[in-house]
Amino acid sequence: MTQGKSMTVNAFEDTHETKPVKPQSTATVHRDVRETVGEVRVEDPRIRCTDVNVYYGEKHAIKNISLDVGKGEVLAMIGPSGCGKSTFLRCINRMNDTVSSCRVTGEILLDGEDINGRHIDVVPLRARVSMVFQKPNPFPKSIYENVAFGPKIHGLVQSKAELDEIVEASLRKANLWDEVKDRLDDPGLGLSGGQQQRLCIARSIAIEPEVILMDEPCSALDPISTAKVEQLIDELRQNYSICIVTHSMQQAARVSQRTAYFHLGDLIEIGKTDDLFIKPRHQLTEDYITGRFG
Ligand SMILES: Nc1ncnc2c1ncn2[C@@H]1O[C@H](COP(=O)(O)OP(=O)(O)O)[C@@H](O)[C@H]1O
Ligand SMILES: [Mg+2]
Repeated sequence: MTQGKSMTVNAFEDTHETKPVKPQSTATVHRDVRETVGEVRVEDPRIRCTDVNVYYGEKHAIKNISLDVGKGEVLAMIGPSGCGKSTFLRCINRMNDTVSSCRVTGEILLDGEDINGRHIDVVPLRARVSMVFQKPNPFPKSIYENVAFGPKIHGLVQSKAELDEIVEASLRKANLWDEVKDRLDDPGLGLSGGQQQRLCIARSIAIEPEVILMDEPCSALDPISTAKVEQLIDELRQNYSICIVTHSMQQAARVSQRTAYFHLGDLIEIGKTDDLFIKPRHQLTEDYITGRFG
């Protein structure tokens, strides 16, 4: 499958860098605002995005995207490189605030509250909406301290015993406890890549978020670690809403209930994962999932 993935990426780069995208499907070009195919809304959403646009200077990177993320749901975001998946993900916990050229418009509600509202403090927001990155990035601290750090700075604990409990519970939820319980004082960076990523997931759930954003969390992992993280995602879904960007359509199919297909800043299609992969409704989605465009 790795081969399929790299072919996909190369195909896109060729198309993108050397010649304009051919209008092989009628819907490919001449659009300022594109209607998304499929149901963007869910009942009782955790996150509701409406008409979100993102600009980096003059570049219009996200074009009028509306979508919901449900409670207890994994939403997969797929699409060719550079189509705006990471940019969109970063809107949800305001990570784009750190990019000076970046401007975000539109509305993003978390439990009905506007996350870009003037009274919103990004520090507690990022505790509610945590993020796991492509490359595992443990702090240069012990395994224990990696997990304990968040609860400490967010003032979630009163005592060492309580902190110990949170650390153990988080490592258990991340399916890492048995592998590290006898060496909690060892450096987090001494773990294998897959263990480091599960440590980062433990770190992110230690602060009891509502939403976990994952940007290609398995692309630096071997297949066994990937399988472990995928199993974990499925377990975590019970308690959190998860948005996962992935380059692997197989992974999207395995872990998500709904999938969103992005293309050059547009949300082309969104729907139940099985439907989208088995019976895509938009030509561009079909071209991508069949490997004709990627
Ligand atoms: N910090 C940035 N400054 C300027 N342009 C950016 C920045 N980050 C991303 N972009 C541009 O925004 C578009 C979307 O990028 P990105 O969200 O990283 O896509 P994806 O995650 O789908 O590969 C790309 O054209 C990219 O070059
Ligand atoms: Mg990305």
